[in-house]
Amino acid sequence: MTETPTTERGIIYPRPMRLLHWARAMLILALIATGFYMTGLAEDDASAGFFYANHKQFGILVWLLALVHLALRSRYRSLLPDAPCALRGWEKWLSHATHRLMIALTLLTPVLGYAMSSSFTQSDGVPFFFLSHVPEILPKNDAAFAVFQALHKYSAYLLLACVGLHVAGTAKHRLQDKGGTTDVLPRMWPNRPSGSSAR
Ligand code: HEM
Ligand code: HEM
Repeated sequence: MTETPTTERGIIYPRPMRLLHWARAMLILALIATGFYMTGLAEDDASAGFFYANHKQFGILVWLLALVHLALRSRYRSLLPDAPCALRGWEKWLSHATHRLMIALTLLTPVLGYAMSSSFTQSDGVPFFFLSHVPEILPKNDAAFAVFQALHKYSAYLLLACVGLHVAGTAKHRLQDKGGTTDVLPRMWPNRPSGSSAR
């Protein structure tokens, strides 16, 4: 009797991708929350400098992690799980499109934030942990600043909407089909589910 050949594809995401997924998820949600909070602070609020500086440096970190994510996706391309066969056509399409859009927005949002800070005539600079400051390479121009400020805001809230849809889709299949073929949560869970063999 011939056995069906088995591969590791389709079981769970590789461990480095699972760890990176949750680290990025926490950082991005924290950045959206602090962005929303700090823009509501009074100009003379003593904590504003702390929030702005950390928002900027963690935002740059998220951009670097988005590049690491792309590199890992490319490295593990042949091991990435396919969409579950039991999903309807539109569900597969929506899940795929949401993933793609989140990947694009996690790259774009920090760039727009950097462009905003860089073009602002009264910018306090863009700090980055041990590097002190990232050079601000754009010409100072308050009209350009206003455009980047609006684009950064729309991009960040569009990302939040995608995350909301992403979590709603995951929760729907988890609640309807826990442990079944359309429950995708175990494939992204940081701990390896028992019985799985992907690294
Ligand atoms: C994925 C990364 C990022 C996310 C999700 C994010 C999210 C946000 C959000 C939600 C706001 C509030 C917008 C509003 O309600 O007006 C905001 C504001 C801001 N962000 Fe970001 N941000 C990110 C990266 C960055 C980076 C890398 C920088 C700069 C280097 C930056 C600089 C700023 C500044 C200066 C503001 C305040 C704008 C104002 O005063 O109107 N952000 N961000
Ligand atoms: C800012 C927050 C988040 C972002 C940017 C994000 C992004 C992504 C991306 C791009 C993927 C596709 C796999 C990849 O290429 O890495 C993915 C998969 C996944 N995410 Fe998230 N995610 C976030 C939050 C969450 C949360 C809160 C949950 C929990 C409910 C979650 C559960 C999952 C699951 C289960 C998968 C696998 C989906 C599948 O294989 O069909 N994510 N996420």
